[in-house]
Amino acid sequence: MDEHVPVLLDDVLALLAVRPGGLYVDGTLGLGGHSSAILAAGGRLLATDRDAYAIARARERLGAERPGADAELHHAPFSRLPAILGGRLADGILLDLGVSSPQLDRPERGFSFRADGPVDFRMDPSAGEPASAWLDRVSEAELVRVLFEFGEERHARRVARALLAARPLRGTLHLAEVVAGVVPRDGRIHPATRTFQALRIVTNDELGELDRALQSLPGCLAPGGRLVVISFHSLEDRRVKDRFRDLAGANAPRDLYGHPLVAPAYRLVERRARKGESDPNPRARSARLRALERLP
Ligand SMILES: C[S@@+](CC[C@H](N)C(=O)[O-])C[C@H]1O[C@@H](n2cnc3c(N)ncnc32)[C@H](O)[C@@H]1O
Repeated sequence: MDEHVPVLLDDVLALLAVRPGGLYVDGTLGLGGHSSAILAAGGRLLATDRDAYAIARARERLGAERPGADAELHHAPFSRLPAILGGRLADGILLDLGVSSPQLDRPERGFSFRADGPVDFRMDPSAGEPASAWLDRVSEAELVRVLFEFGEERHARRVARALLAARPLRGTLHLAEVVAGVVPRDGRIHPATRTFQALRIVTNDELGELDRALQSLPGCLAPGGRLVVISFHSLEDRRVKDRFRDLAGANAPRDLYGHPLVAPAYRLVERRARKGESDPNPRARSARLRALERLP
């Protein structure tokens, strides 16, 4: 199992079908694994990441692996892609959602319950506020909602009470310890996993970002271009599925014979989410991939 192989790389490349000279967008550059493969196939690259550290590392990697390649990298959330593209149409767009291993592995970023760090959780530490500031002022009802909706935490009420009583939280290990004190251990998963997921999602407005991207990015595709999205939990996958089905005409008004009254402008390429059970990257086991194509 290799964490450095980009997740579902073969599927992504087959779906993007990179055409030399075509313009491909990677909204979640990360370590630049997928982007490097796009450049290797002869594509021109425009990439974003909201993490300046990821941009710097990927710039170094792509410079070393693909010297002279046509790569435009922007420190920005992917919801800003339409403005960054400024009317250019993309032959393919990729979103590989979630956090990268350097974000999880560097304790100072505050994503980890394995090593101590500040309760931060921001993918972009230069914008917004750390999770600790939000936790300092949140009401119990709002914290319960976030833990339940974004973490799918069955013990949301108990966790919320314990967290509020433990404020100020000293760091990620203290946070994990407080949660572990009130949530029974369930198999191999750390009891704080769902709380950490919920705090990460709310701190980065991850679902709002995804919704804005799903609204605007299909319109940034050139005819025949594809939007490929890899997600890691059902909250994300459900949004991708519903939006793609809608754009492909699943809910369009139909005539008496069942034909859509207006021909849809998109089609589903992957009709079902593809799962990466046999992928060399262990993250792929919980990955779900969907793709949409803009019709000519
Ligand atoms: C799973 S990693 C991507 C890994 C990458 N595909 C590779 O091959 O190395 C996800 C990256 O997306 C970034 N990210 C997550 N949400 C984002 C958003 N809304 N806008 C821009 N970047 C985002 C994170 O900072 C992280 O670096």
